[in-house]
Amino acid sequence: MTKQQPEPIAPAEGKLGILIPGLGAVATTFIAGVLAVRKGHGQPIGSLTQMSNIRLGKRTDNNYPKIKDFVPLAGLDDLEFGGWDVYEDNVYQAAVKAKVLDLALLQTIQAELEALVPMPAAFDKRYVKNLDGTHVKTYTTRYDLAEQVIDDIRTFKATRNCSRLVMVWCGSTEIYHEATDVHASLAAFEAGLRANDPNISPSMIYAYAALKEGVPFVNGAPNLTVDAPALLELAHETGTPVAGKDFKTGQTLMKTILAPGLSARALGVRGWFSTNILGNRDGLVLDDPDNFRTKEVSKLSVLEDIFRPEDNPELYGDIYHKVRINYYPPAGDNKESWDNIDIFGWLGYPMQIKIDFLCRDSILAAPLVLDLALFMDLAKRAGMSGIQEWLSFYLKSPQTAPGLRPEHDIFQQLMKLQNTLRYLMGEDLITHLGLDYYQDLMEAR
Ligand SMILES: NC(=O)c1ccc[n+]([C@@H]2O[C@H](COP(=O)([O-])OP(=O)(O)OC[C@H]3O[C@@H](n4cnc5c(N)ncnc54)[C@H](O)[C@@H]3O)[C@@H](O)[C@H]2O)c1
Repeated sequence: MTKQQPEPIAPAEGKLGILIPGLGAVATTFIAGVLAVRKGHGQPIGSLTQMSNIRLGKRTDNNYPKIKDFVPLAGLDDLEFGGWDVYEDNVYQAAVKAKVLDLALLQTIQAELEALVPMPAAFDKRYVKNLDGTHVKTYTTRYDLAEQVIDDIRTFKATRNCSRLVMVWCGSTEIYHEATDVHASLAAFEAGLRANDPNISPSMIYAYAALKEGVPFVNGAPNLTVDAPALLELAHETGTPVAGKDFKTGQTLMKTILAPGLSARALGVRGWFSTNILGNRDGLVLDDPDNFRTKEVSKLSVLEDIFRPEDNPELYGDIYHKVRINYYPPAGDNKESWDNIDIFGWLGYPMQIKIDFLCRDSILAAPLVLDLALFMDLAKRAGMSGIQEWLSFYLKSPQTAPGLRPEHDIFQQLMKLQNTLRYLMGEDLITHLGLDYYQDLMEAR
């Protein structure tokens, strides 16, 4: 395959600011983790940008550089952090309350974390019913609110001396709502902001502000947010990348590892029952049925898209898929998820798989925030805009162009991610065919 000739990528000069609406368990674990890694107090496990290698050229070349040595990414020492929350706690206090990382570790970076104080949030309680925070902006219309967030972005960039920014939504999951007329075009959306249309959610206001400023936006929750024509139009207008939705951690990560394997071996699946207990603030928010509905929709689509029952009715036509999330305070952030999977093999003989995953939600999510931030900054410098489907790897409910089915198979997603990096760097894409050099090797013996 011939080498590609993409546009040159602007260098990662200066500091990259990572702005986060929602400084809760995920965000504080991410920020504290990066600061701890900088001090040599831990390794960024789970982050492809920091830990993984990528194959270049043929297998015979034996060339597997680290991704961070292959593509020009911002370095961890060049990151600055900021964000908003409906609670006043600084990042140290919020991290202590989240009870994800050990107090002893947090104390080694206490001063840096305490210096990170949230800006007042753009908030509307209708969208997150179980929260009562008071550290919120006052506003006349949503347009005024968006302008305040734009001011925050500009002030942060100037005072922290950043050359570039990205925004990653780590706020609570908003209630389920679908795109309506106000989300259909940028003109309708801006009219809706001025008319204070309640169908414009707080996460959309952050996204609008970011995209207006040309700041890449990632949606780590399953909210609609940038998955609407109006905001995609703005992303294209300002040449800004977007990615969403919902970090792929825990149970869905396991599902998208296991289901492609069952499908690859043409094993049938009759049922997949998934249940979870978790006791963090995310669990509290998801205890409300309207907020849970948003998460449920995000989690349910995965199997359907991997198994494609309409193409394989004998194997997957009758699959029964159920997902439950139960708020159980004693579990804290250490979620436990159980899966019961009824499968069948040769001549229809039944078998079962049981998974009991004792995971740590924010420990799995933190490296995704890092990778998404660094890759979105790369995408922006490479001149890419709109939906970054190559980052589906990190997302439970990947956004796609209209009419396209999302790719959920984690191995396909990884191949797409790696080939995108090879493409951006002008390297050969890898098809895994290998017939050309295999023949040479056999003949050389
Ligand atoms: N932890 C995971 O594995 C995981 C996986 C996928 C998605 N997510 C999603 O990531 C998000 C964060 O998860 P978490 O465990 O950190 O939750 P969390 O409840 O600890 O943190 C969310 C924070 O967002 C704040 N918030 C809510 N609305 C806001 C607004 N409008 N502006 C600013 N701040 C706002 C809340 O006060 C809270 O501090 C959730 O939506 C969750 O569903 C998490």
